[in-house]
Amino acid sequence: MAIKKSSDQYGSSTPQKSSSPRNRPSLPQVEKLEQQAHLLSAAATTEEAESSEDSIRPQRLADYIGQKDLKQVIGIAIAAAKARQEPLDHLLLYGPPGLGKTTMSLILAAEMGVNCKITAAPALERPRDITGLLINLKPGDILFIDEIHRLNRMTEELLYPAMEDYRLDITIGKGQSAKTRSIPLPPFTLIGATTKVGSLTSPLRDRFGMIHRLRFYEPDELTLIVRRSAEILQTSITSEGAIEIARRSRGTPRIANRLLRRVRDYAHVKPADLITAQLAAEALDIFNVDSCGLDWTDRLVLSTIIEQFQGGPVGVEAIAAATGEDTKTIEEVYEPYLLQIGYLHRTHRGRIATEAAYEHLGYLYSD
Ligand SMILES: Nc1ncnc2c1ncn2[C@@H]1O[C@H](COP(=O)(O)OP(=O)(O)O)[C@@H](O)[C@H]1O
Ligand SMILES: [Mg+2]
Repeated sequence: MAIKKSSDQYGSSTPQKSSSPRNRPSLPQVEKLEQQAHLLSAAATTEEAESSEDSIRPQRLADYIGQKDLKQVIGIAIAAAKARQEPLDHLLLYGPPGLGKTTMSLILAAEMGVNCKITAAPALERPRDITGLLINLKPGDILFIDEIHRLNRMTEELLYPAMEDYRLDITIGKGQSAKTRSIPLPPFTLIGATTKVGSLTSPLRDRFGMIHRLRFYEPDELTLIVRRSAEILQTSITSEGAIEIARRSRGTPRIANRLLRRVRDYAHVKPADLITAQLAAEALDIFNVDSCGLDWTDRLVLSTIIEQFQGGPVGVEAIAAATGEDTKTIEEVYEPYLLQIGYLHRTHRGRIATEAAYEHLGYLYSD
């Protein structure tokens, strides 16, 4: 499944021997193949983890639940671009993982009737990685770059004229004999996704016509997502069962779907043919997901701040060292939701566990 998807994305949408070779730098064929293989394997690893998501990923804008503001802005942009027969403006989506950035990009491509090539900044190590992708775009295509805050400088600088003027400036040769050539590119749309918008350089950020933040989902939106996914997975669930899963999903559709699968496994084993609230709660307790969706690591982060640092303020590096988690993961994966539900405060002196966090974990709070 993962392989098939990758070859769809990179194989059929990027025919290597298509039109006008004069427009392209003469990258040796071997390099091209090597580059494709490189991209494929990069895609395979990210896609592998997500392959189980494919069947329940919404395909059209109408199936994309929640994010009303984003959908409205996107709806207008699609209609305008179609009317003018132009590609969509470049779009930057940011927000915590699992909120629907990749999904939205695939939907945009489907709605515009164009290809979406997916890559991630860490796979764009050498200049030829990005040039290879750009010169193979067809007019209107979408290029999706995940983790765009991690682009290296050379790649980023190649993107500037590409985004602004649909032009690729490449240097051929080395030293004194080096020449710069400009290659025209077809009009295309770049969609960047990031969990850390603050880490983007401003020249890159400024080249996006639309910048949008995805927010955590409301419980009723997540309930809809759970019900929709359950239907696709042919699993019977009561409204209360869906609400129970939604409530523990940290505002995140990817987590809602993951929990649904765990509960479904539990129901199979039990066996039970209907997921009720009680069954969902029972299963999720076993999987260590508590009543507000905090998992083992969330609770460890909070209890570390409380027990080892007297509730804070404490720097994120110290929390990382004490919990054995990586600083980035804490900042990008765990912290956003703990901040959102008010269990954590961020001050310029560090993180503080709030009274609500003490209460939730059963500690005595004293000011
Ligand atoms: N708005 C939404 N409506 C329904 N399902 C969604 C929505 N957003 C995300 N999902 C589900 O969550 C999963 C993760 O979304 P994804 O787009 O991969 O997140 P991100 O790229 O932001 O990390 C998808 O496979 C999809 O099934
Ligand atoms: Mg993604």
